[in-house]
Amino acid sequence: MSNSRPIGVFDSGIGGLTVVRALQTRLPHENIVYFGDTARVPYGPKSAQVVREYAAQDTDILLEHNVKLIVIACNTVSAVGLDVVQKRAKVPVVGVIFPGAEAAVRASHKKRIGVIGTVGTVNSQAYVHAIRQLDPNAQVFSQACPLFVPLAEEGWTDRKATELIAREYLFPLTLEKIDTLVLGCTHYPILRSVIDTVLQKSVTLIDSGEAAALTVEETLAEQGLRNESTLKANVQFFVSDIPHKFAEVGERFFGRKLGRVHRVAGISA
Ligand code: DGL
Repeated sequence: MSNSRPIGVFDSGIGGLTVVRALQTRLPHENIVYFGDTARVPYGPKSAQVVREYAAQDTDILLEHNVKLIVIACNTVSAVGLDVVQKRAKVPVVGVIFPGAEAAVRASHKKRIGVIGTVGTVNSQAYVHAIRQLDPNAQVFSQACPLFVPLAEEGWTDRKATELIAREYLFPLTLEKIDTLVLGCTHYPILRSVIDTVLQKSVTLIDSGEAAALTVEETLAEQGLRNESTLKANVQFFVSDIPHKFAEVGERFFGRKLGRVHRVAGISA
């Protein structure tokens, strides 16, 4: 089978575009098919059982595109549904939790690591388990930051209100004297600068999407799946609700225009 087959990436909605961006920076010649479940976003506050059902359906959508590898861009799905996707797909699957945990353990000197994410991700303790598996002596402090998702989508990256909210969320982590913080949600890289300001630029920030892009690069190389073509990659976008808002907000997450966005039929909230 041809290595020009696309990498499939899925997310609960728009946030996974930060992961596509990281993938494109690292692997500019890989074709990508992206599915964002905009009809059912957000996944963060939903039960693990529901998120696992959605994850199975999202996987099937990507498999229809003959993908060679699946990236679960959504931290919430990676936290509670990695096994669902692995069982369904006969191709390698990369979630964002383990790569993010690995990068954090590598970066942290004091082994005092903070993790921020959705309620679902934090409650699952997936990052805590992954970090402790890598370093049993590491101390992990988690904080759900649900308001960060709408703030990032609104583009409120340099508003006073966002800074105040970030201070509230991050204060308990500063008391724990963390030296490294995992941005454990697709949306948080958009708020990186405000998070950095609130933490007085003294904490190393780990983008779980960037960490996952490195794992994807390694996995493709190991499995002989790299696309050797030097042609410009083709990136296709699919969503489950009307594409209008996705295209508009998505530009901010992706860093450039998205082009055509297709709607997938048959999924409703
Ligand atoms: N994509 C989700 C995540 O990374 C954030 C948005 C949502 O709650 O669906 O956890």
